[in-house]
Amino acid sequence: MDHFAYHQGRLHCEGVSLDEIARACGTPCYVYSYATFERHFAVFQSALKQVAHLICYSVKANSNGAILRALGGWGAGADVVSGGELYRVLRAGIPAQRVVFSGVGKTAAEISEALEAQILMFNVESAAELELIAAVAKERGCQAPIALRVNPDVDPRTHPYIATGLKDSKFGIPLEAAWELYQRALAEPTLLVRGIDCHIGSQLTELQPVVDALAAVEQMARRLLARGAPLSYVDIGGGLGVPYEVGQTPPTPEAYGEAVTGALKELSALGLTIICEPGRVIAANAGVMLVRVLLVKDNGAKRFVVVDGAMNDLLRPSLYGSHHEIVAVDQRRQAPPAKVDVVGPICESGDFLAKDRLLPMPQTDDLLAVRTAGAYGFSMASNYNSRPRLAEVLVRGERFAVVRAREDYADLTRGESSPDWLTD
Ligand code: LLP
Repeated sequence: MDHFAYHQGRLHCEGVSLDEIARACGTPCYVYSYATFERHFAVFQSALKQVAHLICYSVKANSNGAILRALGGWGAGADVVSGGELYRVLRAGIPAQRVVFSGVGKTAAEISEALEAQILMFNVESAAELELIAAVAKERGCQAPIALRVNPDVDPRTHPYIATGLKDSKFGIPLEAAWELYQRALAEPTLLVRGIDCHIGSQLTELQPVVDALAAVEQMARRLLARGAPLSYVDIGGGLGVPYEVGQTPPTPEAYGEAVTGALKELSALGLTIICEPGRVIAANAGVMLVRVLLVKDNGAKRFVVVDGAMNDLLRPSLYGSHHEIVAVDQRRQAPPAKVDVVGPICESGDFLAKDRLLPMPQTDDLLAVRTAGAYGFSMASNYNSRPRLAEVLVRGERFAVVRAREDYADLTRGESSPDWLTD
């Protein structure tokens, strides 16, 4: 459930109409609903209420500082994958003790920063990384808390770009190799073995792969506990899918919570805390990208609706061929339905937001809302074609504020310089 709805024919985010936001903040922009974030977080908390747990929100989904600050206030921790994300999270007031650091290629500098901050644990993805973490910890004269990310070799049945739990993926450590590496970690005084971790993929629409993966995790954890490993945390990653299209019914957080609780009840009874790293399910339906129609173009074979938002602003359709519902902000004009491509101004045929989509025929200056864009929208935006990145606006009830200003042209060239010898 989200808080985007029509009132008197105009789409609102909570108590504010999107045309008011377009007037005040310009387009394109992302519009986020505070109440939707709050609700999604609460639903997820409640889905895991049977077990001791910590929700480490996956920052990559939407890393805006205001969103992070709100989530931190509700008790969220964070799953970070870079020094930059760690910086954002600490700046937003999320305690380091609620932060896990994932990712296949952490640098020595990032590891050092995370040790300095005293994060909860590193999710380690290879033997080489384990050695690097041990070396950095030794140099700093401290102990590094770690979990190994195991790769259970299950097919999450999602888009290949975001499937991570198969044996040919770059992520995680195969189970048997992980067992060996745990022995190495347990013998190393600069490492503190704190948990076990697994993440099989994103936009998961079935629970069985999760249950299969957790069975493998649970078995490994029990084996480690029997060996005397001081495990306190089982990190189950993120990945729960959301409905992008009308009629899609991914598992609910409640069903996911039941499956996880069931699969891990013995570990939970042994006192382990379950960490989960949801991103999309918290953020996706809490945001839309608001765009304005620049013009309509008919080339005989096709009709194109050219809008002011493009693949640099929302990459998902171009990169994954993913579907986002697009709706008219103003429903009062009864336009006849037409099949159109909704495209941006970027110089690539891959720049589209929707193809062959049946929409009430838009016209110049109409506002359109691209739904389910709160996750992996702004966080994947770029300056391609020298387009300043768009604004982000947060709505709470009747109030709204720009929580990230639209970039200007000076932002585009910040950091660039021409050496003296260029014009010799
Ligand atoms: N934990 C780890 C280790 C991850 O790699 C990810 C996502 C998550 C948690 C959060 O997964 P979520 O709950 O959001 O599914 N850009 C893609 C999604 C990439 C996901 C990468 N990892 C997209 O737009 O669909």
